[in-house]
Amino acid sequence: MIIEIDQNRLNGDIEALAAFSDAEAPAVTRVVFSEQDAKARACLKERCREAGLATREDAVGNTFARWVGTSAALPAVGTGSHVDAIPHAGKYDGVVGVLGGLEAIRALQRGGFRPERSIELVIFTSEEPTRFGIGCLGSRLMSGTLTPSAAAALQDPEGDTLEVVRKRAGFSGSLNEVRLPENYYSAWVELHIEQGPILEREGISLGLVTSIAAPASFRITIEGEGGHAGGRLMPGRRDALCAAAETILAVERIALGTGAIDTVGTVGICQVHPGAVNSIPSRVQLAVDLRDTDAARRDKVLREIEATCNEVGASRGVSIKLETINVDPPAQSSPRILAALTAACEHEGITFRTMVSRAYHDSSFIAQIAPIAMLFIPCRDGVSHRPDEYSSPEEISRGVQVLARTLASLSAGRES
Ligand code: GLV
Ligand code: MN
Ligand code: MN
Repeated sequence: MIIEIDQNRLNGDIEALAAFSDAEAPAVTRVVFSEQDAKARACLKERCREAGLATREDAVGNTFARWVGTSAALPAVGTGSHVDAIPHAGKYDGVVGVLGGLEAIRALQRGGFRPERSIELVIFTSEEPTRFGIGCLGSRLMSGTLTPSAAAALQDPEGDTLEVVRKRAGFSGSLNEVRLPENYYSAWVELHIEQGPILEREGISLGLVTSIAAPASFRITIEGEGGHAGGRLMPGRRDALCAAAETILAVERIALGTGAIDTVGTVGICQVHPGAVNSIPSRVQLAVDLRDTDAARRDKVLREIEATCNEVGASRGVSIKLETINVDPPAQSSPRILAALTAACEHEGITFRTMVSRAYHDSSFIAQIAPIAMLFIPCRDGVSHRPDEYSSPEEISRGVQVLARTLASLSAGRES
């Protein structure tokens, strides 16, 4: 079968989606359940319907678009990603997996292919932690990693719960029904930009992801004592921001200290109360993101950060509280799906290498209920989560080509 990707159409779709943004181009900001998110969802559903796919949404807004196979009762083959974008992001993170997945299906349709197993495109709700503080909300619920009651109680920065916000966005069913039944997917493949520099540096077209690093995130709340920045003398101050500064540097030092390239620690949020130039900070909240391909090493780093918080608290006379948001295991790809990806690359004559994903993805959670693998395409300078994120139409097209051929082979009914 000849598979021809319509690069111009796909590129047009990516540009059209990027216009649904709360930030000025080229930046994209599309927070889950915002007006722009709703518009992007509507546009995608329309395109899925045009492709003849049967669409449905669950109670948290995960969207499923199914190309029904000739053996529709068999577990399906899934692909997809997310379209929410962190503040001031680019247009490719997640989007390439959704629109690329759709174009892969359209290309197979054009090529006259008929799948035995259904092929299902998924647009996950809130892969990004921007609004509710935890990433991969939709896939956590689909896989049963997060309980419906814990999800319902999550709050956004305005103090609105997910329960309220999702209903306001028009998703009113029960969260209990989001979890997928056993054996829902026989195989899952997600196409994504690499978000790192390796493929570009080595001049290789595609990355076959063998494992996804284990992510963890936690909140640190530091309570000190506020007061007048002029009247209060320096000795004996209990400045929460000074304690936070020591804590932030400790996260960097401890993450670097493992000596492993795969350990990464980031403090991405620092909220200072009351936030006035002439007032000693009395309270600081930090959000910390910690990842490693080796979960045991990551957990050791976590314990060391905790111990350092206790030391900083004692030496500065402030209270430091650490709350875990998520501590997830790494995900391993399925040898069977990696073999299908390898065969597709070889068939298409496209260069590839295996690699790990240091970013997390919805595939990390789908891995708990189905065999998965991921396919990476290069992105310029390895840049992501920035407005200048870029992958060329040719690079994207090569990824979609291999994705399409892989979906075709995985959808053969004899594959277990
Ligand atoms: C996903 O966006 C991640 O932060 O890895
Ligand atoms: Mn992202
Ligand atoms: Mn992503």
